[in-house]
Amino acid sequence: MTLANLPGRVTICEVGPRDGLQNEAAPIAADDKIRFCDLLSDAGVPILEATSFVSPAHVPQMADAETVFRAIRKDADRTYLVLVPNERGLERAMACGVRAIAVFTAASEAFAQANIRMSIDRSVERFANVVKRAKADGMWVRAAISTAFGCPFQGDVPVADVVRVCARLLDLGVDELSVADTIGVGTPNQVFDLIDALRAVVPIDRLGLHFHDTRGTALANTMAGLACGVHIYDTSAGGLGGCPFAPGATGNCATEDLVYMLHGMGIETGIDLTKLRVASRFIATKLGRPPSSRAYTALEAADARAAGLAATAS
Ligand code: COA
Ligand code: ZN
Repeated sequence: MTLANLPGRVTICEVGPRDGLQNEAAPIAADDKIRFCDLLSDAGVPILEATSFVSPAHVPQMADAETVFRAIRKDADRTYLVLVPNERGLERAMACGVRAIAVFTAASEAFAQANIRMSIDRSVERFANVVKRAKADGMWVRAAISTAFGCPFQGDVPVADVVRVCARLLDLGVDELSVADTIGVGTPNQVFDLIDALRAVVPIDRLGLHFHDTRGTALANTMAGLACGVHIYDTSAGGLGGCPFAPGATGNCATEDLVYMLHGMGIETGIDLTKLRVASRFIATKLGRPPSSRAYTALEAADARAAGLAATAS
């Protein structure tokens, strides 16, 4: 059996340095974050979400955004994206030469209050100026919508609420949407239902999906997205991640897991899986724990077995 609509190429937005590291309690040296980003560039990730210019009081781990963004290597053929919550964040980003930003709100009121301390409507109003100024400066602008598949505070999130906020963000002039399952509760039927409804307001090639693997459904949800023709996915190297404002949220869909699956299906990503593992291995040593990615774990074990056999043979 084949699925007719599957894209031939998928664009992965690597969010490990931001979504992944923002949740780490222990400080991580800026130099280590920079090295991690450069290794991810080496691996060929097309979009790298490098850091966020948010309030350091709210997310201390991202307080070094300027240092990190200025120092990372910027390859001409990649997009280096940063999260920006307001005009103050935009100005900080502009001062560092940022060319691509993501604004972010939520599909559930309760989460918007916890995460950005304002209503969804207020956040969209605030973004109007951010997006206008960014577009006037020639930037590429993305909008992320958290809790589109469920909210840690209110539970179910109606599809109509997601569609409404997506439509409003597109009206502001953003280039791309990233619709997120922040707490990893979604299941494939929800993906089908949501994308069916979203088709009316967003062209499929401007829609990205962002799954967390908290309940093991991230790849299944991605498969549902692929079947609907969605070709943009946010993932994190090694499966890092979690949101400091979403109780119980764990890591993103691991980049290795998705790349392994896509390459197996003959779908291109431009990412070198071996080099990607170098990046994950590096940050894992800094965090002091192994990556949660299943593909990473299996490939590392296979390499170790092969090295052991080679050593025995020689
Ligand atoms: N960068 C640095 N500092 C910022 C800032 C920014 N982008 N935005 C606000 N601040 C500072 C203000 O200068 C102010 O500082 P002060 O108390 O020393 O004067 C303080 O933060 C409060 O500003 P205010 O405008 O009242 O914001 P707030 O407290 O209502 O917080 C957000 C709103 C959106 C800035 C904040 O909740 C935030 O940064 N959230 C980040 C959420 C996040 O990253 N989530 C994970 C990704 S989904
Ligand atoms: Zn996330």
